Order: sequence, then structure tokens, then C-alpha cells
Amino acid sequence: MFAPATYDWSDKRVAYDALVRDLAALLHDEPDLVANASQTAAFVWHALPDLNWAGFYFLKDDELVVGPFQGLPACTRIALTRGVCGAAASQRRSIIVPDVHAFPGHIACDANSRSELVVPVMAGGELRGVFDLDAPIPSRFDDADRHGLERLMDVFVSTTAWPAAVS
Ligand code: SME
Repeated sequence: MFAPATYDWSDKRVAYDALVRDLAALLHDEPDLVANASQTAAFVWHALPDLNWAGFYFLKDDELVVGPFQGLPACTRIALTRGVCGAAASQRRSIIVPDVHAFPGHIACDANSRSELVVPVMAGGELRGVFDLDAPIPSRFDDADRHGLERLMDVFVSTTAWPAAVS
């Protein structure tokens, strides 16, 4: 049984060190994509305070298609030219949006969202999708969160086997 840990967020870098360790233990020796993506989304959702959405969009035929997540049902498909997710995917870099209302083209899947962090998911140099976090408060995410989520995505990618096509 998985007992969710309570992390001390007074020093985010220390907290993310613990998350990286715990996610690696959770995914250890399991290559299945859907299993690992589901576990990662649920793990992040329970570990991080002040989220209203956390999960994956995977790249399929030049579109981002929603994958395992926690939160309200969201947009199913996002073009690479649209939204924060599309921008992070096409630029292959993490994007922090302190105020979603000030981001041109932001896609409001949940009206409660105020700030957002999107991290690209890269495996073997190839873009596989993005991991998206939404928060119901402004300026929820900073550079320590960006770095921490990039490390967590490295854990996810390093243990996961990517099928030639996911459908
Ligand atoms: N806000 C995102 C869309 C995905 S949902 O927030 C889950 C965007 O602008 O790309």
C-alpha cells in the first residue's frame, strides 16, 4: 500500500530531492508507459500543495493528447500552436506562467486555474509530450519547481519504455 508522505516545502530543493527519491522507488523496475504515467501524475498530485490539475499530454500525430492526470476532465487534444502546453512542446523548454490571464492563447480547461507550469517530456532526444501543472493561486510556480519537475520527468523517462506508437 502506498502511504503518501508529507513533504516539508520550507526548502523546495530539499523537498524535491525527497520527491525524486520517492518517485524513483515508486516506478522502480516498471517499464509500462500507462502505469508509470498514472503513478507519476497521482504522486505529484498528492505531494505538491496548491494544485488543481497535474498530468500528461502525449505527442501523437503532431498533436498533444491528454494522458493520465489528476483533476477535472480537461481538453482532450491541443495543437502544438496552442496554449502553454503547445508552446512548451514546440519550444522544447519548460514554461512558467505566473498569471494565466496574461498569457496570450492560454487554454482554460479549468476556470479555477490561475498559474501554470509545463515541462516537456523528452526521451532519447525526442519530444514525447508534456507534463502540465495548474494551480488555483497566482504565481504558484518558481524556478525551483521548474527544476524539480524536470528532475521528476527525468525519473519518469529513465524507467519507462516507449512503445513505437501509443494509442
Ligand atoms: N492550460 C493548458 C491546457 C491544459 S489544461 O490546463 C489541463 C494550456 O494552455 O496549454
